[in-house]
Amino acid sequence: MEDNLITKVRKSVDIVDIIGERIPLVARGKNYFGVCPFHDDTNPSMSVSREKQIYTCFSCHASGNVFNFIMDYDHVDFKTALKFLADKAGIDAGNIKLTKKVQKNDHLYEAYRLANIYYQNNLKSVAGKKALDYLKDRKIDNSLIKKFGIGLSLNKKDDLTKLLLKKKYDLDDLNRIGLSNVDFDMYQDRIMFPLEDIEGNIVGFSGRIYRDSDESKYINTKESSIFKKGLTIYNYQRALEEVRKSKQVIIMEGFMDVIRASSIGVNNTVALMGTAMTNDQLDIIKRMSNNIVLCLDGDSAGKKAALAIGEHFQKKGIEVKVVTIPSDLDPDEFIIKNGEAKFKELVSKAINYSDYKIAALKENINFDSDLELSKYIDQVIKETVRIDDDIRVELILKNLAKTYNLSYNTLEKRFRDYEKKERKEQVTIKKPQEIKKITKYDKALYSIIYYMLRDDKVIESMKEKKIIYPNETAKILVNEIIYYYEKYGEVEIADFYTYLDGKEELIMLLNEILQLNLPDKIKEEDLAEYIKVVKDYSKNQAIKRLKEKLEKEEDPLEQAKIAEEIKKIKLGE
Ligand code: UTP
Ligand code: MN
Repeated sequence: MEDNLITKVRKSVDIVDIIGERIPLVARGKNYFGVCPFHDDTNPSMSVSREKQIYTCFSCHASGNVFNFIMDYDHVDFKTALKFLADKAGIDAGNIKLTKKVQKNDHLYEAYRLANIYYQNNLKSVAGKKALDYLKDRKIDNSLIKKFGIGLSLNKKDDLTKLLLKKKYDLDDLNRIGLSNVDFDMYQDRIMFPLEDIEGNIVGFSGRIYRDSDESKYINTKESSIFKKGLTIYNYQRALEEVRKSKQVIIMEGFMDVIRASSIGVNNTVALMGTAMTNDQLDIIKRMSNNIVLCLDGDSAGKKAALAIGEHFQKKGIEVKVVTIPSDLDPDEFIIKNGEAKFKELVSKAINYSDYKIAALKENINFDSDLELSKYIDQVIKETVRIDDDIRVELILKNLAKTYNLSYNTLEKRFRDYEKKERKEQVTIKKPQEIKKITKYDKALYSIIYYMLRDDKVIESMKEKKIIYPNETAKILVNEIIYYYEKYGEVEIADFYTYLDGKEELIMLLNEILQLNLPDKIKEEDLAEYIKVVKDYSKNQAIKRLKEKLEKEEDPLEQAKIAEEIKKIKLGE
């Protein structure tokens, strides 16, 4: 691929705009700041530089140019990121061939794509009449059927298997990925909902019964090399754009809920496909938006799930909002019964998870028992410690004091105790990251590199120097900068990132160096001093070794020789 196309695209977009479309950024000084989407955080630890066209997270050290951001944020490969940004900039990138990262699975995805086409055709055929009636009955019209790729498996034993065998598929493979069962089709006579991975490949199905039957309501594809339930989020790809626009993602339990919401124009929804949420699903959803709304079923299982999932998010420092759907309904049923406006009103009334939890704590408490009451109050106070809003905390505590006729001071004291404890825990968690020693030699060398990236003259001066480096990674980085400079005639940091792609260790070091925050320009005498310090390294290493030798040496004559040698090195000979 042409280097200059990449550079052209990179220069035609502004990293602040591109990142700003995905996460909220606030200007502070020369840079922009936002909550880093690549680690668990609620603080704005990511800075974006318009001048340098790079982003850097001070906390998790994610960093890079606009391509790196799109690749990591949207989970796409380099070419897809390039094409996306080229389109944005109006640059014709038509000749970039998009190749998917996971080529080894392409034929398996293709099998699923073919199966989906086959199922969709069945639904349109005469044999699909009853299933279609069922869907119409549930107010799933043709446009929804098309949008969500809904199909039908027939009661025909091995139609799909035969079709795929004809396409040169291997029966073992079809069994392995859950399309066939021995030499029969896996799914018989069910309405088929395709399931996609987060890149949008169909990797599984959920098949629903539509006639009276004792069989389980849904059958899902078994886990395979391409279908991982714990990584699957229903409607992820379709929702992305809308989530960005509305700056909010709504989580539901079932895909029927998501499909129904889409019918009333609510398209920023995803489904977990059940009430459990894995860490992976949490990470993916967290990256979609930091405004997360739980809209689970209104029954007791849904309420329990809202507490568990809300807690899971809270452990990662994220406070979600919770919608409570009345009368045991699920979102699908609520929308059918009450319509679009009422549903949107319900979502707009979502409450913060901590308030939801405090309300839930009240249930099943016997308020006549002092013991239960004090336990309840204690739990509420514990909960308020996690609330990042002093006014809200005070209101909750005052309310408690009033309702249960307690003194505010008692409650506040308990609050402070918990707060202290919480803080202590946080400190112990954070510690390991902070232990990282860099020597004065590293420091000097990093400063030199810092200026190499700003001033061609510093690169020139380093080209000549014969130095024994105190740090192997830094040495490679220096050489890469020199190489890049000689090849392209200048070093633009944002483009240098593209060049370093895949060399994680170098990127991490580069990132650390860029965070040094040194003055913009370097004075010649300072540069000379840095170089001297770096050169001192090899000298000092030699002296250290000799001193160790001296200590072990017992012969006075030998001792004198070593001392002489040390003296020579110190004098710079
Ligand atoms: P629900 O039972 O709430 O399904 O399960 P639903 O969305 O209301 O579906 P309808 O309206 O009855 O058709 C929620 C989700 O749990 C998973 C499915 O992914 C479903 O979307 N589930 C449910 C299963 O995997 N298997 C089942 O037997 C039931
Ligand atoms: Mn339902």
